[in-house]
Amino acid sequence: MAEDKVTGTLVFAVFTAVLASFQFGYDIGVINAPQQVILTHYRHVLGVPLDDRKAVNNDAIHSTKELPTVPHRESPTPISWPEEETMASASLITLFWSLSVSSFAVGGMIASFFGGLLGDRLGRIKALLVSNILSLAGALLMGFSKLGPSHILIIAGRGISGLYCGLISGLVPMYVGEVAPTTLRGAMGTLHQLAIVMGILISQIAGLDFLLGNHELWHILLGLTAVPAVLQSLLLFFCPESPRYLYIRLDEEAKAKISLKRLRGSDDVTKDIIEMRKEKEEASSEKKVSIIQLFTSSTYRQPILVALMLHMVQQFSGINAIFYYSTSIFQMAGISQPVYATIGVGAVNTVFTALSVFLVEKAGRRSLFLIGMSGMFFCAIFMSVGLVLLNKLAWMSYVSMSAIFLFVSFFEIGPGPIPWFMVAEFFSQGPRPAALAIAAFTNWTCNFIIAMCFQYIADFCGPYVFFLFAGVVLAFTLFTFFKVPETKGKSFEEIAAEFRKKSGSTQAPKAAVEMEFLGATETV
Ligand code: GLC
Repeated sequence: MAEDKVTGTLVFAVFTAVLASFQFGYDIGVINAPQQVILTHYRHVLGVPLDDRKAVNNDAIHSTKELPTVPHRESPTPISWPEEETMASASLITLFWSLSVSSFAVGGMIASFFGGLLGDRLGRIKALLVSNILSLAGALLMGFSKLGPSHILIIAGRGISGLYCGLISGLVPMYVGEVAPTTLRGAMGTLHQLAIVMGILISQIAGLDFLLGNHELWHILLGLTAVPAVLQSLLLFFCPESPRYLYIRLDEEAKAKISLKRLRGSDDVTKDIIEMRKEKEEASSEKKVSIIQLFTSSTYRQPILVALMLHMVQQFSGINAIFYYSTSIFQMAGISQPVYATIGVGAVNTVFTALSVFLVEKAGRRSLFLIGMSGMFFCAIFMSVGLVLLNKLAWMSYVSMSAIFLFVSFFEIGPGPIPWFMVAEFFSQGPRPAALAIAAFTNWTCNFIIAMCFQYIADFCGPYVFFLFAGVVLAFTLFTFFKVPETKGKSFEEIAAEFRKKSGSTQAPKAAVEMEFLGATETV
């Protein structure tokens, strides 16, 4: 189709937008490799002795160079800490570390509600531009954290970066979906996830100790998101505003046409205009649905519960335990170069995400989700078995390592990308914004719970920790099997009918009737 060609402007616009997703990925992965280096610095700042390793799991500092100024190293007679005091200070370090990891998700949780709102108020481009203020503020706090109370500055900096990521996790898919031509919307939509995983990978490479993950440069590593933030801010000035925002929100048809002509590289944009007109009619004839109504109306209750479950399982599968903590997990598994194994995870993750771009359009969402989840279940079992038997059989470390690689691959085949776009497929224009906001909020909340609690759970369960995730994954796999309908190639009406069938209800849902009445059998 002539109109659906990939033009230079389209590539430029999408590239600029996903620079935000790249920052999101970078922030997820960056805290992983330098964990021990930063912990050493926290101990230094808080005056906690280095040899107290009880509460900070896997705290082998073997590969890091010692700080010359660490008090107990300089002391001619080693300071002896009373047992309880030592435990208390170690718990404090664990607490500060868990907060450093998880404040990011708190920020994401809060801001995830406002991404769509900001995009509607300011326009997609200005919203992305303004959000970068948060990214820069976060990067500066972390970049200069060595000069002050580092733990506080890092917790605050990561919280603010999280706010940025929460906003853009709504804004980027929205902008990319709106500038992409219909036939490329699916593939372009997955570029958001691809940029996230590339950000994770780059942060892992930059975190190598001979690059930035060392005592001298770790603060630069954390502050480096300022670079894509500045680059994106500059490039955004040259990006066309979303034609859908201009036409549907602002009723500015002339401006929307100018934007479309740039994006499509053609003067004939009739096809897009017709499509947007239909969407506008749909939006104005369907009432907006509030978050409360999603739960109180029998029409929406089943789809919203399934939507939230999909996001919960994505996070409670334990995926971010790997991305935040894999270096220490590999250490626990007896891998001698854990940082390289972590980079391996990032690389495998990127390859499988790229693969999923093609798979998602070929196979059904439900089947890919189920395959991914079942694979993750077995991998989680093997991860734990490997860790439990490590003391008896040294080669078990390879079992754990391979299981982690496969765990991540199965995640990206289905449970990674699918929840982010499947929720939009469950709902028509009226309830969609509320459903997307509550889904993103749920995702970030569960992300926070994992970030905050994983270190404690791992300390408590030791090598058995992944059995816990296996149990959770199994429960959600069964849920998916019984409750999640296939959406690929189906209209809203058909999807609603599937939901009715699965919930055992025979009553035709209002939304489907409304859609039918409007003649809007939007195919997804
Ligand atoms: C998904 C998840 C995110 C995770 C990423 C890993 O985007 O939402 O939390 O870190 O996948 O690839």
